Amino acid sequence: YGQAPYLKDRYNFPIGASMNPRLLAENNAYRNVAITEFTSVTAENHMKMMLVHPEADRFDFSKGDEIVAFAKNHQKRIHGHTLVWHNQVPKWMNEFSGDTQAWEAMLKNHIQTVAKHYKGQVAGWDVVNESFLDDGSLRPTVWSKNIPDYIAKSFQWAHEADPNAILFYNDYGQDGKPKKMQAILNLVKDLQARNIPIHGLGLQMHININSKNEELVDVINQSAKTGLTIHFSELDIAVNPKNDSTFVYHETAKKAQQEKFELVFKAYQELPKHQQYGITFWNVSDRDSWLRGYFKRPKEYPLLFDDTYTRKPIYSKLLN
Ligand code: XIL
Repeated sequence: YGQAPYLKDRYNFPIGASMNPRLLAENNAYRNVAITEFTSVTAENHMKMMLVHPEADRFDFSKGDEIVAFAKNHQKRIHGHTLVWHNQVPKWMNEFSGDTQAWEAMLKNHIQTVAKHYKGQVAGWDVVNESFLDDGSLRPTVWSKNIPDYIAKSFQWAHEADPNAILFYNDYGQDGKPKKMQAILNLVKDLQARNIPIHGLGLQMHININSKNEELVDVINQSAKTGLTIHFSELDIAVNPKNDSTFVYHETAKKAQQEKFELVFKAYQELPKHQQYGITFWNVSDRDSWLRGYFKRPKEYPLLFDDTYTRKPIYSKLLN
């Protein structure tokens, strides 16, 4: 699978992928690409609330630990994802009832137990994921409904549990949504003014070939202006965003995708060195992409490796 030159050597920042422990264990091709091509690992699902905290009094770190063991065996950095989100929340949390104090104690316990478990192993955490709607308002979730100021509190609790971890606010689709972008910038300002430890912004970068270059560059620049560390945390570039069943991954789409990848890498490379945390792809090959599995879009090809785990021509373009 890998042959020099590698993308990971071409760039001075970590190149990561989200990974799945079952695929790492069962699929040799997947595992080989994971080992040879990437220097950073994010658990695609196995550090999320629903998976690590299935019942109120029970944590299950087994699968997350498998990913950590893999990463450590192969000298890769681990990025923690994610402590607080409104999706993949266990049933017992969604049904939790209690006053503000009880909710706070519950979330604090979750955050601190997970952050302490992975302390010293993860370089950073997506502390809070996807808190804002496109119109910039706070997303109504069990967290925003039950815990006033839950974002600030979550960062504080995470920092107490793992003072060395780089703490990120992570979100998607800021491009073309100035109100969402502004809400994130306001959050950063507010947390900084109150001395709440926030160190990074994760831009998920689930984009597509029609995403507008100017809007992407604008979002990247505005994020960088905060001075925080920037992570492109879940990169994929969809070529068939409307899920057209007759879609063919033809030259025009490939070229458009290639140009978009080049733009993303160039913009990232131009960030000040001390703000570069890395670029993470959302899984390894096209066949492992959540756009195929979760969104059921069989004719989607959003990553750098094809269904046979072979590098696509885009890969060599990104080397230049
Ligand atoms: C996705 C995973 O890829 C899927 O396997 C899972 O079923 C749902 O979550 N934003 C995030 C990620 O922050 O955690 C999501 O991952 C994709 C969108």
